[in-house]
Amino acid sequence: MIDYHAAVRGALFDIAEVCDNADDIAHHARFIEDGLLFIRDGKIQARMSWQEGEQYLDAHKGYTDRRGKLLLPGFIDAHVHYPQTEMIGAFGEQLLEWLTTYTFPVESQFADEAYATEIAEFFISQLLSHGTTTALVFCTLHPESVNALFSEALRLNMRLIAGKVMMDRHTPEYLSETAEQSYQQTRELIQRWQHQGRLGYAITPRFAPTSSPELLEAVRRLREEFPQTWLQTHLSENPNEVAWVNDLWPEHQRYLDVYHHYQLTGERSVFAHGIHLHDEEWQCLHDTGSAVAFCPTSNLFLGSGLFRLPACWQNKVRMGIGTDVGAGTTFSMLRTLGEAYKVGQLQSYRLRASEAFYHATLGGAHALRLDDKIGNFAPGKEADFVVIDPAVTPLQRLRNTRCKEIYEQLFVLMTLGDERNISETWINGQCAWSTAAVS
Ligand code: GUN
Ligand code: ZN
Repeated sequence: MIDYHAAVRGALFDIAEVCDNADDIAHHARFIEDGLLFIRDGKIQARMSWQEGEQYLDAHKGYTDRRGKLLLPGFIDAHVHYPQTEMIGAFGEQLLEWLTTYTFPVESQFADEAYATEIAEFFISQLLSHGTTTALVFCTLHPESVNALFSEALRLNMRLIAGKVMMDRHTPEYLSETAEQSYQQTRELIQRWQHQGRLGYAITPRFAPTSSPELLEAVRRLREEFPQTWLQTHLSENPNEVAWVNDLWPEHQRYLDVYHHYQLTGERSVFAHGIHLHDEEWQCLHDTGSAVAFCPTSNLFLGSGLFRLPACWQNKVRMGIGTDVGAGTTFSMLRTLGEAYKVGQLQSYRLRASEAFYHATLGGAHALRLDDKIGNFAPGKEADFVVIDPAVTPLQRLRNTRCKEIYEQLFVLMTLGDERNISETWINGQCAWSTAAVS
């Protein structure tokens, strides 16, 4: 007998190992059509076939029967802005105008902690109902926005990383701070939240155009003082943004050089977008062990450009997938993968289902340097996973009957699937969200 807290029966799909090329992923993929997960103390204790595992079941404890459903490691959203939840689908603008027209006014509301709490709770419930168990999240420049989000994530014991936006120039009067204030507030937030439960703190300079040299210097100091924190920012998303950075920082050759100069590249640094990068910048990302977040729905929605997945692999740069809500148009990682496929198609790159689901799970964990804790069903990993019903609409039901094997089923899931396919989301070994509880 195994001394477990929970056991779940269903089809199990995960990827056993971190891969450094796309072709390897399918070799490390594991599928057990009728499988059993044993969970204890919030962690995966064992992953077996039903045949093998049945003997270890305890008749009193029983098991959760999810036959007909597919269990995947929880999705990892490598880049998202929670305060932008309410502004998804803002019409007409590309990045820089979109920020000033829509984003800054919305973000200004988060000085009010009650308001921030309302949106933070809504945002986290959206993550769960969409099957996302870990996210790297931008708050606003108000410490209240960070307190609101972390309080809710801690209550649910989620593995969530977030931070206060830092920005001290080229922002409206109502959304401004000095480099010194930004430094002090970030410092206090790190001391309050880093390592509480499963939380992590990400130092969050918004991007180079809203950062003075003093601000980036403050970020550098924080990184030095708190080396276990993460760093998140934006990089080379839009051509006008890149041109602006070149104007603002003429002493640096390229966009990434600005960040690199202040030692913001490195382990646990995650740069959102990275669409218009030069070879030397890819090389620098690789050499420093930095990661990028590919956000297809956002890149298409803002007309930013096409992320170059092949360049990312060739340069062996860590990568996760982000929804980038509210420039991104969905919280659904399934829909996001479907759009990533289309971004690939526009560049004659075939994003296979094995690769897509790798990026959304273990690859994302690797990008965030959390692959020792989450990303697959290896024993000892934290039991964050999703229970997926692959056929919830008439069209999906028809299409699924024609699927010959798991990869076809997964590919159809990323083409037709969305939050309706998420039956349950388990956090730390407990079911934290279920369709059964809503309907
Ligand atoms: N660059 C700087 N800020 C933002 C933001 O909020 N969203 C996106 N997509 N890009 C940015
Ligand atoms: Zn963003």
